[in-house]
Amino acid sequence: MGPASTVQTDEAAGTPAAEGRAAARHVAIIMDGNGRWAAARGLPRVAGHRAGVQAVRRAIETASKLGVEWLTLYAFSSENWRRPITEVLDLTGLLRHFLKSEIAELKAEGVRLRFIGDRARFERDIQFDLGAAERDTAHNTRLNLVIALSYGARAEIVTAARAAAAAIAAGTLDPADLDEDRFATFLSTTGIPDPDLIIRTSGEQRLSNFLLWQCAYAELVFLDLLWPDFGPEAFSAALAEFARRERRFGARLG
Ligand code: FPP
Repeated sequence: MGPASTVQTDEAAGTPAAEGRAAARHVAIIMDGNGRWAAARGLPRVAGHRAGVQAVRRAIETASKLGVEWLTLYAFSSENWRRPITEVLDLTGLLRHFLKSEIAELKAEGVRLRFIGDRARFERDIQFDLGAAERDTAHNTRLNLVIALSYGARAEIVTAARAAAAAIAAGTLDPADLDEDRFATFLSTTGIPDPDLIIRTSGEQRLSNFLLWQCAYAELVFLDLLWPDFGPEAFSAALAEFARRERRFGARLG
């Protein structure tokens, strides 16, 4: 791994509240490194993605335990459709299996699910299960889990701009009223607070078309470990790093 790490995962993570600092209410994660994890073990890429699903499970449990209110996971980008068809089928197969096998448990654990991205690109049965998972968990409040699927931030912003333009053309929106807050209501994340913290694993330091509007003031933490190795310790360390940062939102404090 390169020198990308900004966090020491062996550091004791004091809770932000105990340190008198704001906790990360919304954590969004770019889950990267499944392929390299598999390659390092001489395994096919799908084995890395399977281990990645286990890490997803751990991340949800940890977020819930640590009192994170919103967890957004970048599971499939709009660019991922360009991967070899076998890998696309492996990924959509894992998604299908996840939806069949995990939703009942997530529902029982108080997790509310929401999906962002272009779900129309998935097969009908998956689209159906996505809608069912959202409906079945709509009353849960313990943890809000947002999964980005076939998601691309630029496309999301263009779609929002088109919807705003259509509202203006229809006479239901005055251009003078189109400010940042109003524009955000046209995004797929309407109603979801902006992420406080973006975590990316695998040592890469890029946003890769993820939540570009929403992460304007997010803190970025890049972890030098591969997604299948992401566990409670790394999650706590990233939250502790967040708690150490001084967030100014462009203003001068003090
Ligand atoms: C990046 O690793 C990861 C992905 C493209 C997919 C992430 C998917 C999962 C964690 C599993 C599916 C999730 C759900 C919710 C069912 P990579 O393949 O780009 O790794 P590499 O950069 O090392 O090749």
